[in-house]
Amino acid sequence: MVQDQILLNDWHVIARSQDLQPGTVLHKRLLGSDLVLWHNGDKVLAWQDLCPHRGARLSLGYVNKQTLVCSYHGLAFNSEGKCILAPANPDQSPPARACVKTYQVLERYDLLWVCLGTPKQDMGFLFCVVGAIGYCHCNHKMSKLLALCFQTGLLELCALKPVTPKSERTSIA
Ligand code: FES
Repeated sequence: MVQDQILLNDWHVIARSQDLQPGTVLHKRLLGSDLVLWHNGDKVLAWQDLCPHRGARLSLGYVNKQTLVCSYHGLAFNSEGKCILAPANPDQSPPARACVKTYQVLERYDLLWVCLGTPKQDMGFLFCVVGAIGYCHCNHKMSKLLALCFQTGLLELCALKPVTPKSERTSIA
């Protein structure tokens, strides 16, 4: 895992919003860390991809009633990352330590952004960058150039097929 505090405390694009529909789960890797992204129906969450029970990948699990369920023994975690149900002991409250490490995630400009640390700056400074990314969706050559400028999340994003916004389809050669 990357230890650079500047990178850890910065926001990184990890996926397009459309890649994570309500009720779905995604595995992503950011700065050497495995993440599970899931959509609880209301919002997107980004967690460490590690079940606190026996270490299974939570990204192999599924969403059920606004919880993420581990596919191994069926522990269910609420949106705060706390285990609220252990099927083997349904009448007992799970221990407080049965919780998943959570990360901050934002949905802006149709992109999902994750910070693994403590964000030191507002997203505002990235506005112009995101505008450029929107442009790059229309021009795949430029996206490769931008990929050199930003961190790992964007590399994956720029590898996607370019998408031309409807409003610009007639004006772009
Ligand atoms: S490893 Fe996840 S529930 Fe056991």
